[in-house]
Amino acid sequence: MHVPVHVLYATATGTAQDVAQQLAQQLVLREAQLVSLQAVDDYPIAKLLNHAASAHTFILIVSTCGDGHVPITMRNFWNFIRRSDLPAGILSELRFAIFGLGDRAYVKFNAAARKLCTRLIDLGASLITPLSLGDDSEEGGYDAQLFPWMDSVFDALVLRPPSANSSDEGNQSLLQLRYIDSRSDDRRSDSKWRAGEARRKPSAATFALHDSVLKRTEVLTNPDFLTDGKEVLHVELDVTDAHPETRLHTYEPGDIIHVVPRNSPSAVRAFFELTGLDGEAMIDVSVRETMRQFGDYHCNTGMPCTLRQFVSAQLDLTATPRRQFFKRLAPFAALGMEKEKLMHFASAGGTEDLNQYAYREKRTILLVLRDFPSARPPIETLIDMIPVLRPRAFSIASSANAHPGSVHICASLVKYQTPLRFLRVGVCSAFFKSLKKGDCVPIFLEQGTSLRFQTKRPAILIGPGTGVAPMRSYLSEGGSTTGPSILFFGCRSEKGDFLYRRDFELFLKRKTLTKLITAFSREDPSQKVYVQHRIEHNAEQTWKLVFEQGAYVYVAGAAGAMPKAIREVIVTLGKTVGQLSEASSEQFVKRMESEGRLQMECW
Ligand code: 2AM
Repeated sequence: MHVPVHVLYATATGTAQDVAQQLAQQLVLREAQLVSLQAVDDYPIAKLLNHAASAHTFILIVSTCGDGHVPITMRNFWNFIRRSDLPAGILSELRFAIFGLGDRAYVKFNAAARKLCTRLIDLGASLITPLSLGDDSEEGGYDAQLFPWMDSVFDALVLRPPSANSSDEGNQSLLQLRYIDSRSDDRRSDSKWRAGEARRKPSAATFALHDSVLKRTEVLTNPDFLTDGKEVLHVELDVTDAHPETRLHTYEPGDIIHVVPRNSPSAVRAFFELTGLDGEAMIDVSVRETMRQFGDYHCNTGMPCTLRQFVSAQLDLTATPRRQFFKRLAPFAALGMEKEKLMHFASAGGTEDLNQYAYREKRTILLVLRDFPSARPPIETLIDMIPVLRPRAFSIASSANAHPGSVHICASLVKYQTPLRFLRVGVCSAFFKSLKKGDCVPIFLEQGTSLRFQTKRPAILIGPGTGVAPMRSYLSEGGSTTGPSILFFGCRSEKGDFLYRRDFELFLKRKTLTKLITAFSREDPSQKVYVQHRIEHNAEQTWKLVFEQGAYVYVAGAAGAMPKAIREVIVTLGKTVGQLSEASSEQFVKRMESEGRLQMECW
């Protein structure tokens, strides 16, 4: 008899939910006794001891947010199990497994999964298989860790491989699609089908969707002085009509806006050309009966629409396919050669070739469909295999007080040439570029958790590149909100990409901003000057503000080496200016982090 299994996910942007769904699907195929598939905080914690005593197993898929935070979808659970009054062996009957989703580029790699695992073990729980930490900074992403870990879970649960019958691809689909007769009553021609309307929000901290209206866009970079053509776009959205539930009138600096993009018309056209499907057919997508009992799915289900609308708003046609995509495509290849190649990519031995084909050469789902013309799964399998087109998150660049009825976004446009010389533009970038004044842009707000600006306190703002967005939001508040502040801004050249220069000069004039210090990385070919170097040049002043005046340090920008470098430079200041030992300076910075005086939002 199989043990009952709960698959719980703690998700920030939806990746952990995707992984949990993939795992749950595999568990069902292996005839595990799946009892639930839900967000950690949707699991009734009062039942935990009972379930543990009845030999239920818990499988947790846990993402780490920003600088080591637990995702909001696990906050309650985490706050409960970290309580100091819980007796040491209280969870001695609990059996669990954890897969973490993180990125080594961040200082606190997979911190949420690691601390959850440690705490559960402290409380007496036992792992059924070692903790595995997915690293999305690697080529091929977390798949390299996920697949062996999933196999170890199946072994630990003594599940047998899926039978030939149940591996029938049709059964693997979570979704089912029904064509609706255009003359039947089901057809709701009057219903305005909107992108993302019923899509499950990634976290409890997100508010209702709103159709904002594009006011204007402005290119913030000067093409004549850009070294690499990296364009940055300022987007202004009108939210005057937004319902109070959307919270779009009362957002705060550090809050996040999610934009629900659509695929470009050319990508959608290519999809229908490659598949030969009829885009105008009315469809209704729902979750398959056998899986419905377990919970919600990432997808807009239960809303009749045309297939074209569904594909355009729901499927990430230009995503890089993961190994699972090849595995599911292979059985449908009619040509032996294609089938063999797909199976090779899907196998452990094909990892290197898959990395080359999919990741290094940056193939998209569409290009793979083009390369394997004989592999055409039925539509419901296809829509289940293609990743969901996710909303894109941006740190808000405006202030609800200073810019009432507006939300500003500062977006770096993703555009590059692949090794095979295809020009690739990011989905949301292409979406922004295609917008005209008055166009509808579906958005929803998420309360930020990484950056929480303190009113009236001295602030050191460090925001290279588009990391300057939340700093602009905070400084725009001005007057009663801000205290003395230094802004460290970094870009490539003064004339090329000095974002929001006029705004910052105005803040200086109004004394909302005390000092602006810039780092131009590409002006002197003999050396790169980054924000951390400028902090070091201004060591005395910065340290004084941090140490003597208790300044808050806010960091935003691209992940990668920058966040670590900033942390290191603060430790260095403690040693050089503050005359602290290495250990005491490290301790000091640790305290700043735990007290929320060093906050980072990196993407
Ligand atoms: P670069 O592109 O010339 O390397 C905004 O993107 C600015 O951040 C650019 O000037 C960029 O410089 C800089 N940048 C890149 N890597 C960085 C790092 N590790 N630390 C600080 N700034 C960095």
